[in-house]
Amino acid sequence: SIVFLNGEYLPQEQAKISPMDRGFLFGDGIYEVIPTYQGKTVGFIAHIERMQQGLSSIGIKLDYSRDDWQQIIDNLVSKNESGNRGIYLHVSRGTDSKRAHAYPTDVTPTVFAFSFEIPAAPTPDKSKVKAFNVTSSEDLRWKRCNIKSTSLLGNVMHFQQSQDLGMQETILFNQQQQLTEASSCNVFVVKNEVIATPALDNQLLPGVTRKLLLAILREHSNYKIEERVISMEEVRNADELWLTSSSKEVAPIITLDEKPVGDGSVGDVWQAAQALFSQYKY
Ligand code: PDD
Repeated sequence: SIVFLNGEYLPQEQAKISPMDRGFLFGDGIYEVIPTYQGKTVGFIAHIERMQQGLSSIGIKLDYSRDDWQQIIDNLVSKNESGNRGIYLHVSRGTDSKRAHAYPTDVTPTVFAFSFEIPAAPTPDKSKVKAFNVTSSEDLRWKRCNIKSTSLLGNVMHFQQSQDLGMQETILFNQQQQLTEASSCNVFVVKNEVIATPALDNQLLPGVTRKLLLAILREHSNYKIEERVISMEEVRNADELWLTSSSKEVAPIITLDEKPVGDGSVGDVWQAAQALFSQYKY
């Protein structure tokens, strides 16, 4: 496929970066994953704003405007087979001549982007949706999970726990046994038709799907919506649990630690929420 690297478009095999890149040596960078369906992005502005926020919070200066990013995305869609494509954007601090922890002052950020085929967006149909079986763990990542850092070892290790158990995600709780998020998704809890999700802080990523879904539900449904602290007990007693992410949209969880969530089938509130998301996400 054709990828973008530092201003150029080239075949993936020809894209090369130095092993001295701080993205490689330190995981020192910020990334985004943006879905596109038939060339149309979902949550474009929110994704770019989150990236710019992340870059500024780690002191990377990059003068790419929103239009520059839009153009890269459009090119990655048009230069590759069309259809539905995820766009991966990655900015690292850049390549240095030595390995030293301090931020170097004289490096140019490395900007890399590629696209990959993604399945069609999920349809709000209980009988067709892929339902998730998940496990849980104490959240053992760092205390800046609001930054979409390319240092993903903590997330990768938590995700792998689920794979080793034949499951698809790991839901995380802090030391106070409060829900944070999952290793690659945000989490929503439904009880008695009230929809709740953890309030934003440094323990979780401010997900774009989370943000869009909350806005859509507040505008187009009568469900009560809450952003607050959620206890492990509430999670274990929920009627429905959902994962949200750019690639999954709203995904229903049917078992948690091998116990059924609610009655163990995909819920009605999920169906209503995914239907509204499908309708209003752009
Ligand atoms: N994952 N929390 C974490 C830890 C994530 O990695 C992600 C996204 C989310 C959901 O965010 P959004 O709705 O903006 O996609 C929450 C991406 C897709 C990934 O790493 O592949």
